[in-house]
Amino acid sequence: MLVDLAEVNLPMYDEPKHPRLQQYEHEHTKRWSASVASADAFVFVTPEYNYGPPPSLINALNYVYKEWNYKPAGFVSYGGVSGGMRAVVTEKMTVTTLKMVPLVEAVVIPMVAQHLSPERKFVPNDLHIASAKELLAELARWGTALRTLRQAS
Ligand SMILES: Cc1cc2nc3c(=O)[nH]c(=O)nc-3n(C[C@H](O)[C@H](O)[C@H](O)COP(=O)(O)O)c2cc1C
Repeated sequence: MLVDLAEVNLPMYDEPKHPRLQQYEHEHTKRWSASVASADAFVFVTPEYNYGPPPSLINALNYVYKEWNYKPAGFVSYGGVSGGMRAVVTEKMTVTTLKMVPLVEAVVIPMVAQHLSPERKFVPNDLHIASAKELLAELARWGTALRTLRQAS
């Protein structure tokens, strides 16, 4: 399932209690909790701002806790010459705090503007496609392996 954070439109974190308690006051948090809980594995598509992650992604990660636990996290990153990899380094630290398993396999898209059609649709090259296949295969393996931990928690 594709989830667009712009559509989810979470406000800056505004729950009074720590998310590990799962005592959510706001409807937007309850909806986000159900969305995250419904998935067994994630691929985060991330740009890079000032060598770091987009605040919207970190905010969305912070909103819930147990719903992320024991799930694998893959990354597709894009940007300028670094292909968003500096943002991913920081995002990996955050997801490990949420007890997720960040994957080594990744799709990296440097100079993303050069891969857009005149209609501004992304047109992948062979490396992007091969990387995506490896990432998804590994995501499925980890998603299956971590099921045991998810069921035990
Ligand atoms: C404030 C700001 C900081 C940026 N910093 C970086 C950066 O550190 N590294 C990079 O590769 N691109 C950087 N960019 C370029 C963005 O990655 C690029 O605009 C990208 O398309 C943003 O993705 P989005 O439009 O999906 O949010 C920056 C753009 C802005 C507006």
